Amino acid sequence: MAGKLMHAVQYFGYGGGPSGLKYVEVPVPIPKKDELLLKLEAASINPFDWRIQKGVLRPFLPRKFPHIPGTDVAGEVVEVGSGVKSFKAGDKVVATIYHSEVSATYLGMWNAGLILVIYISHSIPDSSVIHVLHFEGKTILVLDIMCMVSSMMLENSCSKSRCAEFLDGGGLAEFAVTKERLTVSRPAEVSAAEAAGLPIAGLTAHQVLTQDAGINLDGSGPQKNILITAASGGVGHYAVQLAKLGNTHVTATCGARNIDFVKSLGADEVLDYKTPDGAALKSPSGKKYDAVIHCARDIPWSTFEPNLSANGKVFDLTPGPGAMMTFAVKKLTFSKKQLLPVLLIAKGENLDYLVKLVKEGKLKTVIDSKHSLSKAEDASAKSIDGHATGKIIVEP
Ligand SMILES: NC(=O)c1ccc[n+]([C@@H]2O[C@H](COP(=O)([O-])OP(=O)(O)OC[C@H]3O[C@@H](n4cnc5c(N)ncnc54)[C@H](OP(=O)(O)O)[C@@H]3O)[C@@H](O)[C@H]2O)c1
Repeated sequence: MAGKLMHAVQYFGYGGGPSGLKYVEVPVPIPKKDELLLKLEAASINPFDWRIQKGVLRPFLPRKFPHIPGTDVAGEVVEVGSGVKSFKAGDKVVATIYHSEVSATYLGMWNAGLILVIYISHSIPDSSVIHVLHFEGKTILVLDIMCMVSSMMLENSCSKSRCAEFLDGGGLAEFAVTKERLTVSRPAEVSAAEAAGLPIAGLTAHQVLTQDAGINLDGSGPQKNILITAASGGVGHYAVQLAKLGNTHVTATCGARNIDFVKSLGADEVLDYKTPDGAALKSPSGKKYDAVIHCARDIPWSTFEPNLSANGKVFDLTPGPGAMMTFAVKKLTFSKKQLLPVLLIAKGENLDYLVKLVKEGKLKTVIDSKHSLSKAEDASAKSIDGHATGKIIVEP
């Protein structure tokens, strides 16, 4: 495919919103040794895509302009790099796109489970976004607060300037390259659109439930009471279904129009977030939550705290400065009730597990809307609007 052109959607600088996305022709990318070239059949939009466009991860991402957004893709393998062992041309797959060639520098850290990083940020437009970096097998959480302290959590020490691995882009195109380790087979029973919804949203729901909240998805283990906020969204709708596989009692929040939908996913009780009880996150049956999968934004600790069980934890997917302060205070005071920021570490084996659940009919991707690649700005506008029910799909 070297030298051939493809259609893609690019933006040429920070900001610009949906109208900054341009439908262009660019060269088909060339896979490196450990990469596959896919002819894409579907991609899904995540809030991450347009937040990167806004500049929340500058100067790390985008690595350069123009940039093709989109990380979650499904398609057919057309070429493989010389080191790729598990796939061949013609295989149907789903993947999330990471790149590892970026060099990042941070200025200081305290490595004791909680690591402090001074991240010199310029005029970052959205100060309430957590960035997820993966530094040589270590997880880093960077919160934008202008020229302030950010936080990281990781297992081992790491040095000051390293090659980092970033969720990147390239998915809003006719072809994209993916890493072998973040690409998994897609059986015929799972459509490209259903599969493309899974990577970031499904993996985040899976990780926070299994790794953070300690739920066994085979239903073994003690029954826990879970609250899932924004249960109608991309992450939330997967989280409800997975939590029910784990035999939990699920309380969920969503807008009035989605109450029946969220119940149909398996939630035991559903709160309209615009009612007083919904805003207070109060379980109708009086449950105290052992874990909160917090997919919505901007709910203060004072609202969560009275609804938590003695050891209840809030796992916050989009912690702002207030949440990071709560995280630090609760950690430093050894509080049993805690707020913990979540950061996704995408793993191919977990994506494979989710694809198998979809194949077996135990998990479904609910599709909010489908958009053609040439109209990707409509898909982006829909995501920015914040009212998707399930996943927004783009099809070349
Ligand atoms: N930390 C990580 O690694 C990570 C990974 C993935 C995602 N995230 C973050 O997680 C968040 C959720 O992602 P997503 O893809 O699920 O978003 P999404 O699909 O855009 O969520 C949209 C849904 O949220 C609902 N909603 C909005 N505010 C709500 C509230 N206060 N209470 C209840 N429901 C509410 C909306 O319902 P209405 O239309 O009725 O308002 C809509 O159905 C995003 O901020 C994303 O950036 C973080």
